[in-house]
Amino acid sequence: MPPLTPDAPPDAPPRAPTFVSRAGAGTDPVAGPAAELAAGLQAQPAAIAPKYFYDPLGSALFTAITELPEYYPTRTEAAILQACGAEIAGVLRAALPPGFDLVDLGAGDGAKAARLFGPLAPGRYIAVDISEAYLRQALDALQRRFPALPMVGVGLDFAARLALPEGLPAGPALVFYPGSSIGNFAPPQALRLLREARALARGGALLIGADLVKPPAVLEAAYDDALGVTAAFNRNLLSHVNRLLGSDFELADWKHRALFNAAESRIEMHLQAQRALTVRWPGGERRFGAGERIHTESSYKWQPAAFEALLRQAGWRQVQCFSDPLAWFGVFLAQG
Ligand code: AVI
Repeated sequence: MPPLTPDAPPDAPPRAPTFVSRAGAGTDPVAGPAAELAAGLQAQPAAIAPKYFYDPLGSALFTAITELPEYYPTRTEAAILQACGAEIAGVLRAALPPGFDLVDLGAGDGAKAARLFGPLAPGRYIAVDISEAYLRQALDALQRRFPALPMVGVGLDFAARLALPEGLPAGPALVFYPGSSIGNFAPPQALRLLREARALARGGALLIGADLVKPPAVLEAAYDDALGVTAAFNRNLLSHVNRLLGSDFELADWKHRALFNAAESRIEMHLQAQRALTVRWPGGERRFGAGERIHTESSYKWQPAAFEALLRQAGWRQVQCFSDPLAWFGVFLAQG
């Protein structure tokens, strides 16, 4: 589909994305990542927050995961947006003022949002991502493809609180949160984030992807693929923690585990100690028994009606769900 945002005239100076850094905003400003990690490792059971997956290698491994045959969410969401794009665009064009701001949460390389530029013709693209370095690179590349569209990058970890600097967005906006990352929040935190997203949209709209409940075998394969990419993604977390905390995790001591917890309706990822061992870091240590686990991620799977109810509880109205023939994934459209 051709972009509706016109190319810049040949003699116009190239537009550069502007950038706002709020990268540390989600981490305890006094304690920082080392204290947060040490507290998680000393908790019972031990836990490491999933945001620490995403060092440069972790981000590359996650991109590889999205291409695995077992990992259905990315391609299923893309297929839904392709099949239902015209209907979704029709609703959004009626709901949003011309020149609205498009706020992309967890923007990554911005590729998913870029597919909306043509059909929706936003007036400005506001990309928010925890990885500031990656976002800068991505926005520079995207700006070259769409020279006439003003772009703003915000480096922000919005896991604890979603609040953008003054003036972002400027009026009713579309908040776009694809990829089912909302599933990485427990329901109370997901509700808080959806409320904050509604405040951010300022009477605009939300387009969000959520992964749906399905047979456990399908879910467990998606998080424990035959090639071992998800296992590498999970173990790479320990390399990142070693660098941030100065700890001495030996990756070979830890086995990747992915299991569906039906009572909580979530896939859980863990790292399981293969022998009794002690992990040390400056100022602390933790002894692990053989078989003891570190909880590294939860990925909640929703029933469509339950996710619609959550959106309504957060104040969103006119909620619509678009899904695939197997009802494996939901793209939800809601208005503020
Ligand atoms: C980023 N998030 C939506 C992914 C998920 O499916 O929960 C992270 C992931 N973890 C393992 N595979 C993918």
